[in-house]
Amino acid sequence: MAQQIPRNAIVCLAQKTRVTFADKSLINRCPKRILRLRNICILVSFLISVIFLYKLSFISNRNTGQCVQNKTTLLILPRTNIDYDDVSLDVLSLRHKLQQQPNQTQDTQVQQLPHQRNLSSSRCSKLPPTLVGRLDTDKNLISLKQLGLKFQHLFNHGRLQPRDCQALQRLAIIIPFRKRWSHLIVLLNNLIPLLSRQQADVHFFVVEQSSRSTFNRGALQNVGFLEALQLGQFDCFIFHDVDLVPLNDKNLYRCGDNPRHFSVALNKYSYSLLYPGYFGGVVGLSTQQYRDINGNSNLYVGWGGEDDDLLERLLNKGYYISRYATDLSKYDMIQHGMEEGNKPNPFRLMLLETARVRQEVDGLTSIQYNKTITDLILFTLITVDIDNEQLLRAAPEYIQNIMATTTEKQD
Ligand SMILES: *[C@@H]1O[C@H](CO)[C@@H](O)[C@H](O)[C@H]1NC(C)=O
Ligand SMILES: *[C@@H]1O[C@H](CO)[C@@H](O)[C@H](O)[C@H]1NC(C)=O
Ligand SMILES: *[C@@H]1O[C@H](CO)[C@@H](O)[C@H](O)[C@H]1NC(C)=O
Ligand SMILES: *[C@@H]1O[C@H](CO)[C@@H](O)[C@H](O)[C@H]1NC(C)=O
Repeated sequence: MAQQIPRNAIVCLAQKTRVTFADKSLINRCPKRILRLRNICILVSFLISVIFLYKLSFISNRNTGQCVQNKTTLLILPRTNIDYDDVSLDVLSLRHKLQQQPNQTQDTQVQQLPHQRNLSSSRCSKLPPTLVGRLDTDKNLISLKQLGLKFQHLFNHGRLQPRDCQALQRLAIIIPFRKRWSHLIVLLNNLIPLLSRQQADVHFFVVEQSSRSTFNRGALQNVGFLEALQLGQFDCFIFHDVDLVPLNDKNLYRCGDNPRHFSVALNKYSYSLLYPGYFGGVVGLSTQQYRDINGNSNLYVGWGGEDDDLLERLLNKGYYISRYATDLSKYDMIQHGMEEGNKPNPFRLMLLETARVRQEVDGLTSIQYNKTITDLILFTLITVDIDNEQLLRAAPEYIQNIMATTTEKQD
C-alpha cells in the first residue's frame, strides 16, 4: 500500500525538495530502433525536467512563507478599524435583537424571518440548474453583523437549505479556527451564496481553539465531527480551512465513494497541485469514511503534517483520493502571516512515519476536550479547550520515547 502514495514531487513538508524526474519513463517511451530520434527524445525529456524543476523552485518551503509566488494575485484584505477580537459578542447581540426586536433590523434588507417558509419535498437534481461556473472572490470586509443580516433569511435554525427541493446530502462544514474573524467573514460571504446555488443543505461549525494551547488542527476537526453529530444527522463532512475561497460553483461540495480533495489548485501555488499526495485545505469525507479511519490524529501540535497523516489513514483503509478537474478546483488563499501559536511541528515527519501504526489508538477514539457551544444564525461556534500535553501523554509509548530523544538532541 505504501507504494501507492505518490512521492515523486516535492515534499514541501520535509523542508527539502525531493524531485524525481519524469525523464526515465519518457526515455522508455522513446522509439527504440531509431537511435537518433532517441537522442532527441532524451534531450526533450531533459528540457521538460528542467522546466519542471524551474516551476517547482517557486514552491519550496511552504511553512516559512517562501512558497509565495509573486506573479499570482494574492488576496489581501483591506484594513479596517473593526476590532475582530470582539466580534463574537456582536453576533450574539444580533441574534438577541432578531428574536426580541425584529424592527431594529429594518434599515437593511431583512426579508422573512427564518423557518417560516415551507420546504419542498421533491429531491434536488444531481446537477443544480442554478450554477454559473467561474466566480470572483468578493473581498469586501463587512462586519459579522452585516453578514448575518445579509444571509439570515436563507437559514433555518443554523441550517442553510434549498427552497425548492430536498438536498441530496446533509453537509456539515467544519472550520478549524482561531482569531481570524476577517477571514471567516470573507469565506462565509462567498461560500453561502455559492452553496445556496449548489442547493446544498449545510450547517457551518466554526471550531475555535481557546488561545492557551498550540493550534491542533487535527484535534479540532475531530471535535467538530463529534459535536456536529450531537446536534444532528449529517451525511457528509467538509473540513474547510478558513483562508480558502472556492472560485467555481461547479466545485460541488458533496461526498462520494472515496474521500474528496476539493482545494486542488490554489492561487498561491499558481493553481497547480502542491504535490500529488496533497490532501489539505478543503477535504470531504462521508460520516462513515471519517469513522472508518478513526478521524484525524490528535498528535500534530503546531503547523504541518496532519493532512498527510489523514491521507495515510485513508489509504490504509483502502480508500483513494477523489478530485474534480483542476479547473473546477481553484481557490483563492487569503493572505496572512504566520500566526502565533502555530509554529511548525518538529515531530511531524516522525509522526507521519508511524501514521498507520497509530491509526486505531489515536483519533476520534482518544480525543479529550472541554467545549462551549454557541448557536448563532449562520453557524455554530464551538470553543474548545484542548490540552495538548494530555493528548501527547495519551500517545503510544514509542511516540513518547521518540519525542523525548528528539527533544534531547535539540537541546
Ligand atoms: C515578492 O513580494 C515580496 C513582498 O510583496 C517582496 O519582498 C519580494 O522581494 C518579492 N519577490 C520577488 C521575487 O519579486
Ligand atoms: C415595528 O413593526 C410593527 C409591525 O410589525 C410596525 O407597526 C411598527 O411601525 C414598527 N416600528 C418601527 C419603529 O418600525
Ligand atoms: C405551508 O404548508 C402548510 C401546510 O401544508 C399550508 O397550510 C400553508 O399554506 C403553506 N404555506 C405556504 C406559504 O405555502
Ligand atoms: C476539562 O475540565 C476539567 C474540569 O474543569 C479539567 O479537569 C480538565 O483538565 C479539562 N480538560 C481539558 C482537556 O481541558
